[in-house]
Amino acid sequence: MTNKIEPLAEDFLQDVWRIEQDAHSHPWAQSMISDVTSRGACHHVLLCDEEVVGYFYAQNIVGEVTLLNIAIDPQRQGQGLGKVLLEYFLTMCEDAKAESVWLEVRESNQKARSLYEAFRV
Ligand SMILES: CC(C)(COP(=O)(O)OP(=O)(O)OC[C@H]1O[C@@H](n2cnc3c(N)ncnc32)[C@H](O)[C@@H]1OP(=O)(O)O)[C@@H](O)C(=O)NCCC(=O)NCCS
Repeated sequence: MTNKIEPLAEDFLQDVWRIEQDAHSHPWAQSMISDVTSRGACHHVLLCDEEVVGYFYAQNIVGEVTLLNIAIDPQRQGQGLGKVLLEYFLTMCEDAKAESVWLEVRESNQKARSLYEAFRV
């Protein structure tokens, strides 16, 4: 299986929107998912054998990076792909020499909290 991470291009939006609805208890509106050119946008998709299996939305405003959304297709969760994506996100922040990185997570979202905790320094 070949994993690849690429900038989120319009061609991927249909798959991203499907995953958004399947993965999240409180999905974003489709208009938010489709907005890939907002200021500082650095959104990416994770492809497994050319198929979109996950993505993150992030924003870099003068060195302050915010992770806005991250999701893995529920059919592919629990296989380490969330870690692959988060690792890429953090490397991207380092490469951009980000001054700070922010994210928010619901207290009840145990899966996401465990994922983020795994990267805490
Ligand atoms: C959060 C999410 C991206 C994790 O993706 P994933 O591919 O399942 O995660 P991984 O398989 O890489 O697992 C990474 C870590 O997450 C945690 N985790 C994964 N599945 C878990 C589960 N069922 N219960 C508790 N923790 C879990 C573990 O700490 C795991 O590390 P470990 O395998 O070393 O124990 C995925 O669950 C998801 O898309 N959730 C819905 C969307 C969401 O809530 N996004 C975050 C808020 S914006």
